[in-house]
Amino acid sequence: MPQVPVHGVRHLIAVGSGKGGVGKTTVAVNLALALQLSGNRVGLLDADVYGPNVPRMMGLQEAPQAVGPNEILPLEKHGLKLMSMGFLSPGDRPIIWRGPMLHSVIQQFLRNVVWGELDYLIIDLPPGTGDVSLSLAQTTPITGAIVVTTPSDVSLEDARKAVLMFRQLRVELLGMVENMSYLIAQKSGEHVDVFGCGGGRRTAQEMSVPFLGELPLMPEIREGGDSGRPSALAGKDSSVGRPFYELAERVLERVEEVAGQKRPTIAVED
Ligand SMILES: Nc1ncnc2c1ncn2[C@@H]1O[C@H](COP(=O)(O)OP(=O)(O)OP(=O)(O)O)[C@@H](O)[C@H]1O
Ligand SMILES: [Mg+2]
Repeated sequence: MPQVPVHGVRHLIAVGSGKGGVGKTTVAVNLALALQLSGNRVGLLDADVYGPNVPRMMGLQEAPQAVGPNEILPLEKHGLKLMSMGFLSPGDRPIIWRGPMLHSVIQQFLRNVVWGELDYLIIDLPPGTGDVSLSLAQTTPITGAIVVTTPSDVSLEDARKAVLMFRQLRVELLGMVENMSYLIAQKSGEHVDVFGCGGGRRTAQEMSVPFLGELPLMPEIREGGDSGRPSALAGKDSSVGRPFYELAERVLERVEEVAGQKRPTIAVED
């Protein structure tokens, strides 16, 4: 199957994990915002078709507009272009689809959404090592993937599987991020180790994957996600925003490295 670039999009960055609930969507949303607020053109594609959380985390619930028989416009919030199954099929009803249908939805998200010219399209993957990642990797050149883990052994075990999956799919690994690494004590500002910080760095080393850093466990990060005001909006000088801007810097360094090793994935039109 030939890989076809997404029209006008310079770099696709996938955010995945082996295990659910480790913070992929939180990382994807805040990374996208940090990149955008640092002056890049950024889109966020919610590829979690069964459990789309981007609408809530971005605080947006609208129906996208069709602009032709086969084209829809992405929604926009805080300068980010957004697409999610949650905009098309709102409500609590779970969606049950088979692999080929998932494939078709992902292709439509890539090809029939008018993304425009973007420097980065961040893709929030569903948990696990399933059909969506396969469909993406087989049909589209992805610049690289980020694997999110928490420090717990079960999450690390699944993160290893995610790394192996991306290797098998020949998707470059930008690196591994350890989320919910430590708690910052409110009074003393001391770092409290909750799940055993450091496992992410160690696992990354063991697997020869770059380590992109640690993100603290902060009540404000969860509140920001639940209320549709992601932490990165607080800016790079705030305690809740800073970790995501630092992550964004590391990710951009890795994108440069990885892209430097390959031919450009797309010729962007003038
Ligand atoms: N660093 C953090 N500090 C505090 N809460 C966090 C942090 N990261 C994520 N959370 C919270 O943990 C929950 C799970 O996060 P999130 O939805 O981003 O995980 P996920 O990996 O995308 O889950 P799923 O596998 O279901 O898609 C959310 O309520 C989120 O707000
Ligand atoms: Mg998610």
